[in-house]
Amino acid sequence: VDWAALKADLKELVSTCGCAPILVRLSWHDSGTYQASDGSGGSRGAQRFPDGESQHAANAGLDVARGILQPYKERHPQVGYADLWALAAVTAIEWAGGPVIPYRAGRTDIRTAASCVAEGRLPDGDRGAKHIRTIFYRMGFTDPEIVALSGAHTLGKCRADRSGFEGPWTETPLRFDTRYFELLLECEWEPSEASTGLPQMACPSEPELMMLNTDVALITDPTFRQTTELYAKDAARFHADFSTAFVKLQEHGHPSLVDVGV
Ligand code: HEM
Repeated sequence: VDWAALKADLKELVSTCGCAPILVRLSWHDSGTYQASDGSGGSRGAQRFPDGESQHAANAGLDVARGILQPYKERHPQVGYADLWALAAVTAIEWAGGPVIPYRAGRTDIRTAASCVAEGRLPDGDRGAKHIRTIFYRMGFTDPEIVALSGAHTLGKCRADRSGFEGPWTETPLRFDTRYFELLLECEWEPSEASTGLPQMACPSEPELMMLNTDVALITDPTFRQTTELYAKDAARFHADFSTAFVKLQEHGHPSLVDVGV
């Protein structure tokens, strides 16, 4: 793989496509199936088959991201899907003003859909703190790491025809900043509904914005709240902690990755 050329191609892509958020979501859903107890799941390009993980409800809409990246797989055929999707995500975060996240390559893609994990490993947005902990502890994350990773919702939005939830988290969905944490603390979040009938949270003073129940758990749970307050005030700390946690997310299950100079 000509990693420098691939990285340059992806930089060009993210600066023109407006697709940075969904590229981050693709990498997170590829790697967020990991289970530390048996090493199953993790970033393995598992959504590229027509059946298996691509059909899981949590992955609705990610065909868009996979389609955007397919031409880059064709232009750089030696790159694995999991490595490609992971590199696209860190490139997107950097373009959006987030941290420059260290990247290493060498993830092994699964070969057939039969190696996909069963549905149910990714979080549901209408749940609470207990559910979030169950999902993220399974991967080996701590409470502060859960808050840091959730800060990715500074990017992007929910769509009624994908997840069934609706709206952006912040006024600047293409900026990786601390607005998500500030808004969590500034607003009086109250129960609301998407047009699909799914429950979500609304802020009377910011009617265009939304939070998921799982986002609001980061202020109602006292332990999560401490970290939310820290990140709302300290962008450098958020960026540093997000970077560390995102590397862990992208790399878990792959003990022998290598630096490829990008
Ligand atoms: C409790 C944990 C989480 C839940 C319940 C959750 C749920 C969701 C939902 C429902 C959407 C909307 C999808 C759509 O309608 O297109 C979404 C989008 C997104 N999520 Fe999460 N998420 C969680 C954690 C994370 C983490 C850990 C990351 C990355 C580190 C992340 C990154 C994103 C991004 C960037 C988007 C925007 C995608 C776009 O605009 O197309 N999320 N998430």
